[in-house]
Amino acid sequence: MVENSLSPAAITDNLETRFIGQRVIYYPRLTSTMDAAKREAQQGATEGTVVIAEEQTAGKGRIKRAWLSPKGSIALSIILYPSSAYLSSLIMVASLAVVHCVEKVTDLKSQIKWPNDVLVSGKKVCGILIESDVRGNRVDHAIIGIGINVNLRLSDFPEISPTATSLSHELGRDVSRLALIRCLLAETERLYLALPTGESVYQEWWDNLVTLGKKVRVSSGEATYKGIAESVASDGSLLLRQSDGSLTKIVAGDVTLRE
Ligand code: BTN
Repeated sequence: MVENSLSPAAITDNLETRFIGQRVIYYPRLTSTMDAAKREAQQGATEGTVVIAEEQTAGKGRIKRAWLSPKGSIALSIILYPSSAYLSSLIMVASLAVVHCVEKVTDLKSQIKWPNDVLVSGKKVCGILIESDVRGNRVDHAIIGIGINVNLRLSDFPEISPTATSLSHELGRDVSRLALIRCLLAETERLYLALPTGESVYQEWWDNLVTLGKKVRVSSGEATYKGIAESVASDGSLLLRQSDGSLTKIVAGDVTLRE
């Protein structure tokens, strides 16, 4: 039997983490977990505090897009206080945690579309948003926001169905959001704590990127680039080989895979 609602007690009960998810703030309905997490961080919330919402009414996506976040999905934000050296690695930590946990909980294989969309069967199942407040060389706080289409009937959401999927759609049955959330919190912490040890989160992220070697179109701000996604740098940026032979480094953007 798959659970219907998420309670902080069920999430934290015997959770095998040191700090991520040891404090959970739960909302049945909220504009965006990012905004609530930012307020908590500004008030000095302990590292690893998680804000979770059953449903978001103004979910935020990357590049100022809206993120659809109805009941049945996962919408959570994790508050961290990393050193600035690890800020760019949070994208890798979060997307790998999702790939690992989707496979562990559902047996589905997923891939990462640069920089941090997670795809199943070539369609988007998860979006990740990292927001941070940096003063000079110091990170005041960073927030990892993770949205996963878990138990969604795609026919109810025609606006996303051409490019998105859900775990329940792929499997033909509902998935335990509780199991997925608990796995995500533990896996995010494991990968985050591995960053200073030099264990290569970067190499594993690279290995899971579906984008590399493909012909892509990348929109970055006002500019659009076309070329082959050749590699990624250790700071997470994409290196694009254009038809004139030049190599362009793209720090943030949106990739469309071309035939
Ligand atoms: C994207 O693909 O554009 C990123 C989507 C990120 C969505 C998550 S859901 C939890 C958190 N709260 C938000 O408002 N956004 C992130």
